[in-house]
Amino acid sequence: MRMFDIIAKKRHGEKLTDGEIKFFVDGYTHGDIPDYQASALCMAICCRGMDEEECSALTYHMMNSGDTVDLSALPCTADKHSTGGVGDLTSLVVAPTLATLGVNIAKMSGRGLGHTGGTIDKLESIPGFCTSLTGEQFMKQVSEIGVAIIGQTADLAPADKKLYALRDVTATVESLPLIASSIMSKKLAAGAETIVLDVKYGSGAFMKTAEDAVELAEAMVKIGRDMGRRMGALVTSMEFPLGRKIGNTLEVIEAVEILRGEIGGDAKTVCVNLAANILSLAKGIEIDDAFAAVNEAIDSGKAYEKFLAWIAAQGGDISYIIENRLPVGKFTREVVAACDGYVCGMDTERVGLASCILGAGRVTKDDEPDLTAGLVLHIDLGEKLTVGQKIATLYTSDSGKLESAEEMLISSLKLSETVPENTPKLIYKIIR
Ligand code: URA
Repeated sequence: MRMFDIIAKKRHGEKLTDGEIKFFVDGYTHGDIPDYQASALCMAICCRGMDEEECSALTYHMMNSGDTVDLSALPCTADKHSTGGVGDLTSLVVAPTLATLGVNIAKMSGRGLGHTGGTIDKLESIPGFCTSLTGEQFMKQVSEIGVAIIGQTADLAPADKKLYALRDVTATVESLPLIASSIMSKKLAAGAETIVLDVKYGSGAFMKTAEDAVELAEAMVKIGRDMGRRMGALVTSMEFPLGRKIGNTLEVIEAVEILRGEIGGDAKTVCVNLAANILSLAKGIEIDDAFAAVNEAIDSGKAYEKFLAWIAAQGGDISYIIENRLPVGKFTREVVAACDGYVCGMDTERVGLASCILGAGRVTKDDEPDLTAGLVLHIDLGEKLTVGQKIATLYTSDSGKLESAEEMLISSLKLSETVPENTPKLIYKIIR
């Protein structure tokens, strides 16, 4: 078999066989196929697409390119995955909530990338929290308290690690079969029986339209089901930041506020919907009963107690949480409205970039983010603003960053003269 022929076949729009896809994935993972041939095939896939069978084969071989986690010793395991967003703190709330309801969350998460945040960075903003456990510690913690979240191990889906880095620099990220196989190879390798995806759409997401997000969600659900997993997906809006706090420590603070029952809002709504759908699928119970159980877990304080137990188990100093003293950036600035108008939207990517400018994100993958940096939004979609009204508070450890972050945030704001109609649906679709 020759890589040249596989590239030419896909360039002509023909269907690749399972053997050809395996030849490519194995050869590229082991360094036998060079980057230039792999990027040529990725570009051909971007232009010509793949059918469901090819996409499943690509996912399967990427999943098996490294270690797969065996969670069979644990009953009722579940995982969730978000395709990436701004102010997306859902894992911090959903994981401990489900752990109180008999669903085991043995989860590997990522770091922030570009304008989007990552759960591992958020957890590391809690002093002492350890995001790398041995396999034995990981399994022991899940069987004892029902939840552990760690960083992805190097050997999980190594084909995806190499391919993702290549796609990032060859303009081949935005391809449905490549995104679906990339996400699903990692999720399947991580071993959970039930997987629920939170596929984002809108200005802060990979998928700019809800229709494209639905297509991606359906493709991933099908791949997972074909491989014997219980699958569901929510397609949710990233046309506005999900939480009102954006940045690592700030998102932990907002998650704690939700778990203590102190606030509601969009972030809580998405958390409750994700948790209820996971619970219903994982336990085979009616969705209404699942909603009732999830709400009770939060309202009773059990989910908050579980959160504290989980953080402590991974070495986090919970006194910072209990005493409300998680450190936030010492330099602050209030951003105010320069004119009147109704908030008809925000360019959510720009909001995420403003948080990155303050120090919360990475420019290269080796950067160390300022975990205390970020911003708090004081506005809501549809709200009427008057000149001088507070839009946001910025936080950073470096006062030199305030000016350009403020400019970026102001440029994200979309105002209209009249009350906005057709505001985006927070939960666009649920696929079960
Ligand atoms: N997230 C992934 O893990 N892979 C993609 O291709 C896109 C988003």
